[in-house]
Amino acid sequence: MFGGHYGAGELRFIEEKALLRQRLGVNVDHIATLRQARRVGYPDPVEAALIAETAGADQITVHLREDRRHIQERDVEVLRRVVKTELNLEMAATTEMVNFALKVQPDTVTLVPERREELTTEGGLDVIGQRDAVQRAVRLLQEGGIRVSLFIDPVLDQVRASHKLDAHGIELPTGRYCEAGSYKERTDELVRVRDAAKAGAKLGVGVAAGHGLNYVNVVPVARLGDIIELNIGHALIARASIVGMETAVRDMLALMRDARA
Ligand code: PXP
Repeated sequence: MFGGHYGAGELRFIEEKALLRQRLGVNVDHIATLRQARRVGYPDPVEAALIAETAGADQITVHLREDRRHIQERDVEVLRRVVKTELNLEMAATTEMVNFALKVQPDTVTLVPERREELTTEGGLDVIGQRDAVQRAVRLLQEGGIRVSLFIDPVLDQVRASHKLDAHGIELPTGRYCEAGSYKERTDELVRVRDAAKAGAKLGVGVAAGHGLNYVNVVPVARLGDIIELNIGHALIARASIVGMETAVRDMLALMRDARA
């Protein structure tokens, strides 16, 4: 995800920043949702990931949830072997998940809060309130050679706290922007995301964003210059079910590119 302390990755990060290109992480969780609905072997998130990469995705993102409602351990293990871009594993900061990540070695771990009953991730990680647990997970993962990003609300204190923990990156939730009921609410949320992204970039932290982004609402977020990566899942997989994975990824990349043209 982010260059961090890693030579070749760092170089690419700098090049991409210079080109103003924003990376796209394709979240393939919901291919697995469809599979798990029938507990069969298809559709396969690994196959979807490979097509997404061919279509230009910069990263494959998966969330291994505590309840294993979509992605399973085996998916992550196979993805680790076949993904040629980068693998970003979203997970809770638990001992079980940290041990799993250290074994599988994704390129990046994004630490997210998790509640069993939620439909999808709601809100960011409280890096200030849960400092010790988050710090421990960050340290163990980084010592294991994995970059760590923290999914935090667009709040300056959370950005600063993430930087203090030496996280390589942060990911800002765009769900509230996407779900805003009025123009004012949407604009206020976008400003919050923009300001948090600017603060993160100033501190030298790689800034990603994601949640709820679709083909209609992505453009204003794609225009935010301090955000170097978007992670998009549900809308992209929904569209892929109609037009195919390759077209869905290419269309999203074209929107992101045009937004910055
Ligand atoms: N980023 C994070 C941290 C997430 O938890 C999710 C959902 O798994 C996404 C991005 C993608 O969100 P969506 O599926 O709404 O595009």
